[in-house]
Amino acid sequence: METDPDALLGLARRAAEAAGGLLLERLATAATGVGSKSTPTDMVSDVDRASEELVRSIVRAERPADAFLGEEGGEQQGDTAGSAVRWVVDPLDGTVNYLYRFPAFCVSVAAEIGGTVAVGVVHDPQRRETFWAVRGGGAFRRGPDDTGPGPLHVSDADQLAGALIGTGFAYAAEVRRRQGRVVAGLLPEVRDIRRAGSAALDLCWVASGRLDGYYEEGTRHWDRAAGALIAAEAGAWVGNLQGGLPSEEMVVAAAPGIAGALVRLIAGLGSGS
Ligand code: IPD
Ligand code: CA
Ligand code: CA
Repeated sequence: METDPDALLGLARRAAEAAGGLLLERLATAATGVGSKSTPTDMVSDVDRASEELVRSIVRAERPADAFLGEEGGEQQGDTAGSAVRWVVDPLDGTVNYLYRFPAFCVSVAAEIGGTVAVGVVHDPQRRETFWAVRGGGAFRRGPDDTGPGPLHVSDADQLAGALIGTGFAYAAEVRRRQGRVVAGLLPEVRDIRRAGSAALDLCWVASGRLDGYYEEGTRHWDRAAGALIAAEAGAWVGNLQGGLPSEEMVVAAAPGIAGALVRLIAGLGSGS
């Protein structure tokens, strides 16, 4: 099967936008099948599952040989061995927000080629915004009424003291205790902190300069695969506390002018330990 990133991007956008449409349609009615996963605070609903099914079916209809990793349905091999492409999908990032109708949730669709994220799409149906990137090709956004597509650039922040920093919290209480200590140490050193409740949107908002930086311990690959590529392609420094690839241990995405100081501060506050 061909692995042209632009063709993958088109499919990723169609799938993410279709799933976003489903999320909006179902927002008006009370979510059904609501339950919890890893902890009582980690919610899932029929809408999460239906959104993932829709993305899976759209992708498989065109590319049955590709592998697929979705938050709700797990890992699925393609029909035939040998495709270099794997899709990594969070069908509803911001489930708690969605269930409360708090307006920050999205669909995140990434495509890896040979194990590297090559394409990322994050669709925010309520704001009618789509963010996307192809590795090496920059990051873009299309807004309501087809405004854009504008190339995205991170902010030019160069002082932590003047930086607006996003973060998020894991669902496990013992991780939250540590995250609370880190955020308490960070708060007096920055302009302010935001916790919007969608890691994928946080990363896209760094890409757009709506946040100067974002960090979070405990995210999963599907939370950050698309958004981290979009942030990096918009000029963000993206990595973990050791300067490696973002991981479950930590993802940091920040304007280059503050990234070093932010990483040093978070590391000094003892994140992950
Ligand atoms: C969560 C959101 C949240 C982040 C959590 C994620 P979900 O994803 O991205 O902002 O803080 O770490 O698990 O559960 O809504 O898909
Ligand atoms: Ca998520
Ligand atoms: Ca999710």
